[in-house]
Amino acid sequence: MINERKMPPATRPVKNILDLLELFRNMRDDLLGIMVDGFKEYGDLFMFEVKGQPLQYMMAHPDHIQEVTVKQADKFIKNSDYTDRHKGIARFLGNGLLTSNGEFWKRQRKLVAPALHARRIESYAQTMVDSTLKMLEGWQGQREVDIDEEMMKTTLAIVARSLFNVDVSGESRKIGDAMAVMQDMFGATSGVEALLPWWIPTPGRFASRRAVRDLNEIVYRIIRERRQTNEDLGDLLSMLLLAQDDAGQGMTDEQVRDEAVTMFLAGHDTTANTLNWTWVLLAQHPEIEAKLHDEIDRVLEGRAPTLADLKRLPYVEMVIKESMRLYPPAFTFSRAAAVDTEIGGYHVPKGTVITVVSYYTHRHADWWDEPEAFKPERFGEQVYDPSPPSPLPLQGERGVDAEGERSFTSGIKHRYAYIPFGAGPRVCIGNSFAMMEAQLMLATIAQRYQLRLAPGQVVEPEPLLTLRPKGGLKMRVEERVREREKFI
Ligand code: HEM
Repeated sequence: MINERKMPPATRPVKNILDLLELFRNMRDDLLGIMVDGFKEYGDLFMFEVKGQPLQYMMAHPDHIQEVTVKQADKFIKNSDYTDRHKGIARFLGNGLLTSNGEFWKRQRKLVAPALHARRIESYAQTMVDSTLKMLEGWQGQREVDIDEEMMKTTLAIVARSLFNVDVSGESRKIGDAMAVMQDMFGATSGVEALLPWWIPTPGRFASRRAVRDLNEIVYRIIRERRQTNEDLGDLLSMLLLAQDDAGQGMTDEQVRDEAVTMFLAGHDTTANTLNWTWVLLAQHPEIEAKLHDEIDRVLEGRAPTLADLKRLPYVEMVIKESMRLYPPAFTFSRAAAVDTEIGGYHVPKGTVITVVSYYTHRHADWWDEPEAFKPERFGEQVYDPSPPSPLPLQGERGVDAEGERSFTSGIKHRYAYIPFGAGPRVCIGNSFAMMEAQLMLATIAQRYQLRLAPGQVVEPEPLLTLRPKGGLKMRVEERVREREKFI
């Protein structure tokens, strides 16, 4: 009987429009604070109820995260925040990997995965370093740069060049603007707008329609040009255009567009923010920065890094991982229960929306010593392992453990306490690409420059679609001339 089922601790229900407006206002002012306070008050799984809406469960316990993402993965689907064509992220991404479900998703994941296979992405390493060096040319003679803008531009150029073999530098502003619209629409500020029926025109909705139009123009043009030449350029786009499923079916232009836009958007903002937070943390911890510089200078001896060097730059990897622990770019992700089920002894009715808050799990004192401290050494037992995240992870593959995922977590207390890339069959398909990119960019930049917060720059996390530094990130950049000269 429903009444006898155990429900998680609940916050005060949101019963009317005034309660709801208050909730939205609080979310806009301090979303992270509300989530953290909720966990502190009610425990690692709590629920809240908004009249007329599905139940909402907030989740931070690694055992529960494992249930949702791995053990009961087949019972949870992407919820309407992703899949709704009018209000969800699907408005921009269509029916790509991030926003699809069921058999369709499975087929697409199989088709797309080979393009992001570790061996395949090795060839992108040079592009990653070259694009970073090009960015650094623009820093010459500058004292202060907007690091957020620079990281976004460069990660966008990298994803465009390596996955689509195109140079979008001329168009990166349009793509960047479209991205900003998305961030706005899904940030705390979009709360009230989300209450209105989708067909009511609002400035935000106009802006998002324009953003989709701009993106489509760029991406369909690239697809058209490639279909015409029919060339296999060895990049993701070629693979998408040539891929066929078991029945010999390829993808329509629209499906290729959806996957391409998904890669564009999922693949640059996250990595750029990983680097943003890494620069902030290094500027705040000169002793860690010195250790990083020492490793980079010793191993590279003044050369630009290559993929082969990453094995010998373990501290670079540790710094990135620790930065993603404190500031996971994808600080939450969500699902809906496709059927009635149970998690941690609590009833989960069909339709319940589950939000996993990795930001809180990553800073939980049960799983981390000195959780608020920046200590890359806690990831010390690991070395770079370029083994692939397999399409639908296979057991026994190198770097993939019994439950079918890359082990990111040796040396920490609970493997689902560290989930910057999610977990289970829907783990980030770009995780090897992202790790390689972040490490190569960090090594290339830190070899040549030391970054410090610009005077007056206050750093505050802004939880939009990704966790980013609010209002951009102005930093002073100083060339590390003397250290490099030692090797010349
Ligand atoms: C540091 C960088 C990145 C972070 C932190 C990150 C994080 C994540 C997370 C947490 C998920 C799982 C979301 C969920 O379970 O609901 C995910 C999925 C995904 N990511 Fe990433 N990501 C990064 C970079 C990339 C890159 C470089 C690409 C592509 C080139 C990419 C493409 C995707 C796609 C397509 C999915 C959906 C996979 C599926 O559902 O099958 N990501 N990412």
